[in-house]
Amino acid sequence: MMLCYSLVVALAIATSVIAGQFDFDTTTQQFPIVALPPPPPPPIADTSGRLVHDAAHPWHAPEEGDMRGPCPGLNTLASHGWLPRDGVATPAQIITAVQEGFNMGYDLAAFVTYAGHIVDGNLLTNKLSIGQATNRTGPPPPPPAHAGGLSAHGAFEGDASITRGDAYLGDNDSFNATLFDEFVSVSEKYGGGAYDFAAAGALRMARIRDSIARNPYFRLLAPRYHTAYAESVFPIAFFIDGRRTGAERTRLDPAVARGFFESARMPPDFWRSSSPWGRPEVGIAVDALYRAHPISPGSNNGTVDSYTHDPTSPRLHQFCEMYTDYVNVTVRELYPNAKGVLLAALNKNLDYLYSALGRTSCPQVPPFV
Ligand code: HEM
Repeated sequence: MMLCYSLVVALAIATSVIAGQFDFDTTTQQFPIVALPPPPPPPIADTSGRLVHDAAHPWHAPEEGDMRGPCPGLNTLASHGWLPRDGVATPAQIITAVQEGFNMGYDLAAFVTYAGHIVDGNLLTNKLSIGQATNRTGPPPPPPAHAGGLSAHGAFEGDASITRGDAYLGDNDSFNATLFDEFVSVSEKYGGGAYDFAAAGALRMARIRDSIARNPYFRLLAPRYHTAYAESVFPIAFFIDGRRTGAERTRLDPAVARGFFESARMPPDFWRSSSPWGRPEVGIAVDALYRAHPISPGSNNGTVDSYTHDPTSPRLHQFCEMYTDYVNVTVRELYPNAKGVLLAALNKNLDYLYSALGRTSCPQVPPFV
């Protein structure tokens, strides 16, 4: 552990010196130095379908200490070596890997990655754990920020997941076989045995109703409200072999789904989607799921079955409001008072998040001071 920590410090110092940004900051005394985070990588050039479970990307089970978490997409990329196999990555590595490995559209890849990294990653070392907190991302920032990894409940990870339990009810980051049984039965009932859009919409609603009934502190507010719907579309977008065509292109076999959700494993000879799924493509599908089973953002009030709509929380189509709310509420709560290099790194990451929106679409929230 100590060795890893020293290595991170040494690397950060080296990087900072190379970048000419060697500086000290009194708010992060144990780990004073880091270069400003580099800009996001450019989009990948070739977005056609291709073999991604290839000889260069074999599946290996995670080793002791490797991080895995609530996202079956990132877990799978790590277990196939599209991401570092230890599950600790930079935003640039994630943005490239989700495009290369699954053909996620560049806009969505960049937005989701920065949204996750800003609240769960270490902004000074520029490293994010795709699972729980680890000292391999460097010393944590001053509380209430935590750099706790994607498994940290609250800011990004949330309730009513498809295959993971609510944090209040226990384990929120590992595969839950009982929940997956529901995935199978809903697929049988609504999708003729496959997880298709009809099944995805029905399961999204069923998972929300289950949380309303069992989790007194259930919250379905932006940005979790948005990611819950998007993540219901992701298995169809990304876990179906890209060589499938016609109606079969949107029908996911639950046995294949289980490989991704439980074992972070692509089927043999798996091809990524034949075209990218970015914000527009996922947005259309999210809209269809919502229209089939509409529910407004809201929360329980400390007792079960008390779900109440929260009119202050942005709705699905209010993407600019979701971005603004995320910065002003979610991020601000974690970083009420950042200073020095931490403030600079935070603002840089927020800038990259905004860039991922496409500069013209929404007004940018001014940098934190
Ligand atoms: C781009 C960077 C990404 C980040 C930062 C990210 C992060 C996350 C997080 C934190 C969750 C947990 C949310 C929750 O259930 O509370 C999640 C869930 C999920 N992610 Fe990702 N993800 C990313 C990309 C992907 C990709 C490329 C895929 C598919 C290939 C994917 C598929 C999913 C699915 C299906 C879930 C829902 C799991 C469930 O509810 O059981 N994600 N992701």
